Amino acid sequence: SFQAHQKMTKKIHATVPPAIARSDFARDFLWGCSTSSYQIEGGAAEGGRVESIWDRFCERPGAIRDGSSGAVACDHYHRWPEDLDIGRDLGLNAYRFSVARPRIIKGPGARPNPQGLAFYSRLVDGMLERGLEPWLTLYHWDLPQYLQDQGGWNERATAYAFADFADAVSAHLGDRVKHWITHNEPWCTAIHGHFEGVHAPGIQDFRTALQVSHHVLLSHGLALPAIRANVPDAQVGIALSLHPLTAASGKPEDIAACARHDGLRNRWFLDPLHGRGYPADILDLCAADAPVVLPGDLDAIAAPTDFLGVNYYFPEIIEHAPGAAPLEARVVPREGVPRTAFGWEVSPEGLGALIRRIEADYDPGPIYITENGSTWEDTVGDDGEIDDRERRDYLASHLAALRDTIAGGSRVKGYFAWSLLDNFEWAEGYLRRFGLTHVDFETQQRRLKGSGKWYRAFLKQEEDAQ
Ligand code: FCB
Repeated sequence: SFQAHQKMTKKIHATVPPAIARSDFARDFLWGCSTSSYQIEGGAAEGGRVESIWDRFCERPGAIRDGSSGAVACDHYHRWPEDLDIGRDLGLNAYRFSVARPRIIKGPGARPNPQGLAFYSRLVDGMLERGLEPWLTLYHWDLPQYLQDQGGWNERATAYAFADFADAVSAHLGDRVKHWITHNEPWCTAIHGHFEGVHAPGIQDFRTALQVSHHVLLSHGLALPAIRANVPDAQVGIALSLHPLTAASGKPEDIAACARHDGLRNRWFLDPLHGRGYPADILDLCAADAPVVLPGDLDAIAAPTDFLGVNYYFPEIIEHAPGAAPLEARVVPREGVPRTAFGWEVSPEGLGALIRRIEADYDPGPIYITENGSTWEDTVGDDGEIDDRERRDYLASHLAALRDTIAGGSRVKGYFAWSLLDNFEWAEGYLRRFGLTHVDFETQQRRLKGSGKWYRAFLKQEEDAQ
């Protein structure tokens, strides 16, 4: 569990970041930062925005560790020009954001809300003016509450409604937005949201979680043709949270447990997206909990995409755990390794291992690292500086691993750091900071951290060399 991990958390001693240069990467490599709507926007009651499942979930006592919500967050809804300036000044050439569906579709069957569309239209123009290629995510977990009231992602109708939403947004922004991500981390939507209940909508039922995962994947498949019809030159993909896994020992039961865990964490999503349907071993084990899949669904899900988005944070060690739901497998902390303040193992080599495994097993075409980052106990010094050398070293060492993996033949075309700003970190509220930019949530002041300054210097190298 995270708690067990947290007990083992130790600050890693800062080292010199590995020697790495922007010129080690291709000229057209994309350098970005990622954010998401609910985590940064605030402006919860503005522009005709309706309630999302996260607004509702945050009201639940104990759901969010500091009792907070995203109602104000980074106030990006008002401060977006300043935030995009930060991205430009870093030297980014791409920026990944998400569209809050509660700003766009205010009720069942409603026409798109012009105020919501206008907000994102201004935001996209702001990116283009600053040389930031917009990478738009359609769903980063903020479902409108009215859809949850009708059953949410457990209902097939929610997948159809998502295609309508994708149509509305792509019709409006597709003249300027060419890179589209349907979903962010369907595993989290399904498992955190509907099995563990630690994310909105806070349901704890494995059968529901599996049905949700299917409807989310189906909605991805239904959104693809809608986006392509509106944006013929669109590049469309999905962003998955994926983990390199190792069995805790050479014992057959640990090896089998690791394969099961992989089945739900990784293969459950990668297999159907690559035309293989759901993994048979997991379907067998889930038996009565298996999702209802209608004829044609798997074909829709397997429609070709243009890239795979990989969100990478940490590897996992897996041991056999008799009786542990849902698959009798458990994550055990690896001893003697550095961990972030979240307890997540720091493993740049895990990034390379993950990419090589995905390419060997699925040959997905171009890969973009759509998220990667770390959280630490940041402190603002008397001089106003945030000396977050652990985050700097995390970033630098993962970029070095990426460079080496690409040198080995991998087709990775871009990297988006999570995140541009400290923000509302879901169930952890404002207690976990992931930003390259520090946000004072009292004053909304932004300050570039040491890690941000390092990224800026790294990104400026090529400009200087030209
Ligand atoms: C990912 C989420 C992102 C952020 C990071 C830390 O799972 O996609 O919103 O919370 O973790």
